Formats: sequence, C-alpha cells, structure tokens
Amino acid sequence: GETGYETWLRYEEITDSALHTQYRAYFQTIEIKGNSPIIESAKEELMQGLRSLLGVTPKCLSATGEQASCLIGTIADVAEVSQAIKERLREEGYAIYSEKGRLVLVGKTETGVLYGTFHLLRLLQMRDHLHDLRIVENPRNQLRMINEWDNMDGSIERGYAGGSIFFEHNKVTNNLQRIKDYARILSSIGINAIAFNNVNVHEEETKLITRKFLPDVAKVANIFRQYGIKTFLSINYASPIQLGKLETADPLDEKVRAWWKETVADIYRYIPDFGGFLVKADSEHRPGPFTYGRNHAEGANMLAEALAPFGGIVLWRCFVYNCLQDWRDRKTDRARAAYDHFKPLDGLFHDNVVLQIKNGPMDFQVREPVSPLFGAMPKTNQMLEFQITQEYTGQQKHLCYLVPQWKEILDFDTFANGKESPVKSIVDGSQYDYKVSGITAVSNVGNDENWTGHLLAQANLYGYGRLTWNPNLSTEEVTTEWTRATFGDNEEVIQTIHEMLLQSWLIYESYTAPLGVGWMVEPGHHYGPNVDGYEYSVWGTYHYADCHGIGVDRTVATGTGYTAQYFAENYELYEHLETCPDSLLLFFHHVPYTHKLKSGVTVIQHIYDTHFSGAEQAEQLLESWRSLEGKVDSERFQQVLERLEHQAEHAKEWRDVINTYFYRKSGIPDEKKRTIYP
Ligand code: GCU
Repeated sequence: GETGYETWLRYEEITDSALHTQYRAYFQTIEIKGNSPIIESAKEELMQGLRSLLGVTPKCLSATGEQASCLIGTIADVAEVSQAIKERLREEGYAIYSEKGRLVLVGKTETGVLYGTFHLLRLLQMRDHLHDLRIVENPRNQLRMINEWDNMDGSIERGYAGGSIFFEHNKVTNNLQRIKDYARILSSIGINAIAFNNVNVHEEETKLITRKFLPDVAKVANIFRQYGIKTFLSINYASPIQLGKLETADPLDEKVRAWWKETVADIYRYIPDFGGFLVKADSEHRPGPFTYGRNHAEGANMLAEALAPFGGIVLWRCFVYNCLQDWRDRKTDRARAAYDHFKPLDGLFHDNVVLQIKNGPMDFQVREPVSPLFGAMPKTNQMLEFQITQEYTGQQKHLCYLVPQWKEILDFDTFANGKESPVKSIVDGSQYDYKVSGITAVSNVGNDENWTGHLLAQANLYGYGRLTWNPNLSTEEVTTEWTRATFGDNEEVIQTIHEMLLQSWLIYESYTAPLGVGWMVEPGHHYGPNVDGYEYSVWGTYHYADCHGIGVDRTVATGTGYTAQYFAENYELYEHLETCPDSLLLFFHHVPYTHKLKSGVTVIQHIYDTHFSGAEQAEQLLESWRSLEGKVDSERFQQVLERLEHQAEHAKEWRDVINTYFYRKSGIPDEKKRTIYP
C-alpha cells in the first residue's frame, strides 16, 4: 500500500492515452552524454520515472550516429545548443527545448543536467505538453540549503517525524539507501547544501570533524555529492579544548588557529569538496568568542581563514541573545539582540563568512515581523534561515502550510536600498553583490515511513525547495505542483487539498496566537497552550497581559526602541498605532483590550472571534478531508485523517484556554455570548 515514502517522486502512471502517446514518442530513444556520478543519478532518475509514468523503458543510445528523440547533456557535450541559450545559462542552470518531435535538455554543468531532468519529469507529472518547449532556468539563490538538527544518539532536536535518518547509537547509520532517497528528494527541489548534525553540537558530535568519524561523514558526503549537494558540519566552538587538549579556544590564539588549520586540512582529505562549518556560537549556552573577549567577526574569521584555501565557507548564525534575562528587566528586548550584536560589525567579516539570520527577530513564531537585520549590513554576506520543522506551528500534528508565510517574508520590502529592496533580493545577493548568500532551513524530516509524520507536511519541504530555487514562484504554482505530484489527477482531490493547505497557516494562527503575540505555549517542548508559560522566564519572551491590556511596547517613543532598527519606511509603519498592521499589533504595541483594530473590532473581541472561528475551521479541515474518502488511497487517507482529528480536538483546547485566560484577565464578556468557561 501507499505509505508516503515516495513523496512527490511517486511518478504515478499516466492514464490519459493521448498524452501517453505524445510522451512515449519523445522518449522512444534517449541519448545521455557523459557518465559521471551526477549524470548517472540523472539517468537513473529519468529511467525510473519514465518506467513508472509511462510503463516503458526507453532505448538508450550511445553516440552511434542515430539521432535520439531525446538528447541530454552539458553544454560542453551537446554540440547543437545555440549561443543564445549558452549565454543565458548560469552555474547549475539548464534549458529544455523541443522541436519537431525532438527534445533536448542541456545543463550548464552536470548538476544543471540533474535539475533539468527533475524538471522534465515534473512536466510529465503535471501532464504538460512537451511540444515547442522553450525553458531556460537558473536558480536565484546560490546557497539552497537544509539544516538537520540531528544528534548522534538518533534523536532530533525539534524533530516531529521520528528519529534521525543519519545517526543511531552514536554512529553514522548504515542505512545509506534512505540517505540516497533523501538526496533524491532534496535534489528534485534544487537543494545544493546540507549540514546534517544539530547546531547544538554535543560531546560526541564534536568528534565528527576527527578521524574517528570522518570516514563515515565522507560516506554520507559521497551520496549527497552524486545529487549535487555539498556537505557541511555544525561545529563546537570549543573543539580546540575538547579535541585538541588546548587550554583555550580564543580565536586570536596562535595555537588555536593552527589547530583549526590542521583540522580543516584533515577534513578535506576525506571530503575534497567539503562545504564548510555551520556555527552556533555564544548562543543559548554554546561556547563562542565572547568567552575570550573577542567579537563575532574575530570568531568567524579565524575559521574562515582555515577554510579559505579549500574554498570552504563559514555559516555564522545570528541567533545571539541573552537567554538569562530577568523578567523584571523591562529594558532588555530580545527582539533587538541580533541587530544590536551584528550591525556594528558590518564590513569586518571575511568574504567567505555568511551571516545566517532567522526570518524573524525572535524564533520562528507563527507570526512575527521580518528581522530588521536583513539589508542592514551592505558589506557583509547574509543568508536567511527558515524553519520547516513545525516547532511553533503545530509540530506536524496540526496542518500548517508555511509557503504563504515564507512568501510574505521573501517579498517583504526592507527599503534597505530604497524602495524595492525585498528580503529575497538581499539574500539572493543581488542587492549588495554578496559573494556568498542564499537561504537555509531546518528540515522537518525523520525516519517515519512518510518522512514528515504528517503526510501533508511534505508540502512544506517541497515548497521550501521550490521557493529557494525561485522565490518568485507563486504560492498557487508551488502548491499545485506538490498536490498533483503527490495525489494524482482527480480534480476534486487536488482542489480540496489545495484549499486546505492554503488556509491552514491562518487557521493555525487564529486559534493560537492573535495579533502577533507569540510564546503562549508550553515551555520546553512548545506544544499546546500555556499563556503564561514564558511570562516570567529567562528567555526574554513576554506578552505583558494584565487586566487592562496586552502587548509589548517596542516603539521608540515609549518602548524598547526596537522599531528604530528598521529602515525609515518600516519604522514609520510599525512605530505608530495608526499604521501598524493588525496582524503585528501586539508585537509592537501594548494596547487596552478595548482598542479598536483596523478591522473594526476590539482587541478582546478579536481574540474571542478568531479563537471560535479558528477552532471551527480546524473542524472544517477535517470535514474537507473526510469528503475525500475513497478518492485517496486508504493508507494515506487514514494517516492524514488521524492527524486532522487530533488537530480539531486540540484546536478546541487552544480556543478555550486562550478565551478563558483573557476573559478572566479583562472581565469583558463575548459580544456574541458564546461559551467561555469562567
Ligand atoms: C530554538 C529552538 C532550539 C534551537 C534554537 C536554535 O530556540 O527551540 O531547540 O536550538 O532555536 O535555533 O539554535
């Protein structure tokens, strides 16, 4: 039966006979130039795809002189590519064109051929015509990356789909087939880099950069390489102490510098195309340069110098804040931290360092503003970090399709370089001519049979990759692609799932966190409602609800001054109550419950309304899915059904906890007199 293991690479058989005939003609005979490992991956995928989609195994021609109906290769190997096409192709790009019953696919590089092959298969999955194709594609972002938060004991930090597919019992897994399938999945959406150990690098993981584990890391890297994916490792900043028996990890200490140089040289002996290091330093109790009175630029540059001779890079995370805050302290504002730490260092980082910045100033909440750091450092490479794993968005028990959220963030105008400086133009490197930049995200994959626990959460991984390749794709396009490739031809099924996905983020937001206030979750695991869970904690995450009102005053006029970190246009937008969008109101302002929103209702009535409607809509998601019984294979139907049933129940819990909390605080009854438990 269907388990979901095949993801969107199911290649369901084409039943439309006219299309079947058309496709078959193009794949009568295939000639694939070259035989490198990456070309082999492309060939294997194409053959498997065509067998499955068309039920045929095309005849492969080698250079016999006979003209193949489908010709595939790099521009170096395919003589007949026009100059015009050649000029338009950049690194990793490809072109697919067809004429008079013949199809040609050329990649600028072998990786381009592989991406082009996945595109070609997608055309068949979408049941598109192959006549008169004129496709030229280049990725918009240089780094299109995935971060795994996997630990060597097999657990995953913030993983909601089982254990690690990379590690078990403090070793690298022997199940390399699963890693290969993961590489196929990632490559099919254009991912070209991965760091496969957690950013919190514990005792055993620290040794991944030593000879004890490098042969195993190399095995994993070999698989990813065949799919155009570079391997990175997360490192422990204190490695020189823990591994090298040095007394310090001070980045300016000569012995420390020499130790890293040797260590890096060793890594490249095992993995000649090693990507570099991902570093969480001076963040949430992780060691870093602060211990030695050095700043982040000094800390990062030391590693960058060790990696530079090999072409490696440092991905330095900006998730740096005081996680030992006193809730009585109203001056410290966690939202300010990344900007306050990093902005003054602009221009001090080496050009093989990239700052990795979370999308928002806090931590992947269901709704928060865009980090003001984007665009604020013209002389420093920046990249964006998303979270696919649904830590704060329902933990893959709730449906929460994040592509609409990511689109908003990518399109957000920073005004960094005047109007039209959206986040996507900062991180694709075009705005400031960054040498290295791109997008990364924390994966939502584990060793559950269907990879993501919630089958529909596969759409988040898919959408992430596609947007990273091209942030200008519309939510509709991406969603249609995923739904068709995963669920097939039935229009009712496609429509229903499409709608469910598109509504799900706002539904989740409405029964959980209203108006941009975050953190009303159970501390630690972050699942389920607990309005005061973080209210008196050290993590700097407060909503300040009292009997009069709620929200964090982050204005310059009367609050923490966070709004000043934005460029003028956005500062003006957020600073003033009159212009601040409802959706972020409580992130920027503390207002009375009776404050009237732009929508016309008061804050308290909004809280009640959205929690009642959110829970109802969660119920409707379940009803929508139920209407597909018998139209989706029963195994996958059942998997999703169970999650949606749980979600509908849990949404009621959220509704009632939040409504009761704010009713008790405010004493204001619901205008519509619905049940609120006193
Ligand atoms: C969040 C998350 C942690 C994670 C951290 C990070 O705070 O809860 O588990 O380690 O982000 O991004 O480093």
